[in-house]
Amino acid sequence: MDNFPLQQLWTDIARELAELETAGLRRDILPIEAIDGPLVRIRGRSLVCWCSNDYLGLSAHPRLRAVAAEVVSTWGVGSRASRLLSGTSLWHQRLEEALAAWFAAQAAVVYPSGYLANLGTITALLSNRDVVLVDRLAHASLIEAARASRARFRVFHHNDASHAAELLSRSSSARRRMIVTEGVFSMEGDCAPLRDLLEVAEAHQALVYVDDAHGAFVLGDTGRGSPEAAGLPHHRFLYMGTLGKALGCQGGFVTGPVPLIRFLHHRARSFIYTTALPTSVVAAAVEALEILGREMHHRLCLWERVRSLTHHLHVRRLLPESIGSHIIPVEVGRSDKAIRLSARLWQAGIWAPAIRPPTVPKGKARLRLSVTALHTQQQIEDLVCALQDAVRQT
Ligand SMILES: Cc1ncc(COP(=O)(O)O)c(C=O)c1O
Repeated sequence: MDNFPLQQLWTDIARELAELETAGLRRDILPIEAIDGPLVRIRGRSLVCWCSNDYLGLSAHPRLRAVAAEVVSTWGVGSRASRLLSGTSLWHQRLEEALAAWFAAQAAVVYPSGYLANLGTITALLSNRDVVLVDRLAHASLIEAARASRARFRVFHHNDASHAAELLSRSSSARRRMIVTEGVFSMEGDCAPLRDLLEVAEAHQALVYVDDAHGAFVLGDTGRGSPEAAGLPHHRFLYMGTLGKALGCQGGFVTGPVPLIRFLHHRARSFIYTTALPTSVVAAAVEALEILGREMHHRLCLWERVRSLTHHLHVRRLLPESIGSHIIPVEVGRSDKAIRLSARLWQAGIWAPAIRPPTVPKGKARLRLSVTALHTQQQIEDLVCALQDAVRQT
């Protein structure tokens, strides 16, 4: 006999999927058959990828491949257990020391992903005695973490430190107050006003948590991220970043004083109750940090490409204002329009997916172009021409 609740569930799910389809919100997961720098092959077709977060092009760097392969041959593939049980290798410790040194912190802790770093850290630090203020456009993992913490949840207008101040002034009874922001916003490409947020926070005895997933290793004169770009030391923030974007690896991390990191070892559930990152990936991240410490050209190359693309987009009136980062949103408004634009680019051999709600607010669908150090000048020019044609036809 049929299991009725299960049948009901399948019916509900089918209805919801049909609604997504009608609203132009269906998403397809495209299988990549091969990668060569910014070139990918999908269903036999070669495309220039403008949607990867491999900003410095390190994910396929020969040194990272070699180190990862060597470590797999000695340590095996999986890490066998959670960090606290038996999943912490010498390589994990080496990576945490290297991250701490990179950000001039006493210590660091690595999680299996950036999502888990946010979830584990914020829920460990906040409880129902606290208040958390989250930027309206903050990443889903930050919103999820803030909600899961059971702290009183407030949303401040995007990048609006005075609104954050207003909300803080109404929460003086809380044990802890925390402002949560991204360093570089993943879908907007703009940077948080860290100086203003810090000023407001310090005036109200609040903390500032910065998710620098897209700024770490990229922003600042030496790649120390959004705080460096804002001329501020890391130690004034709770600082989080990822290893899966500019470092080309996988994982998330938090840096800070030794007691904070020890506390997270004991209280961050997404650190405690999950299998550690594979040692080969961790070793590759150590190598990536060494490369970035030695070689400036990866970052310089990226910024040259960013300048070139933004210049060409401005000249052709495809970008209203300067974004100031390597993430360039071309906002089109409606989801169906974004889909048509993306499909036209696809025909021209360019992969720039339509970003739609719920990833961005309703009515703010867009193409999100992410520049990498590996894009060539020719690819930039081809993108701009194809985009201009696609906009004219859409
Ligand atoms: C701002 C931000 N924070 C956190 C994450 C999650 O990082 P990870 O992909 O390492 O889980 C992302 C990833 O998309 C992000 O954009």
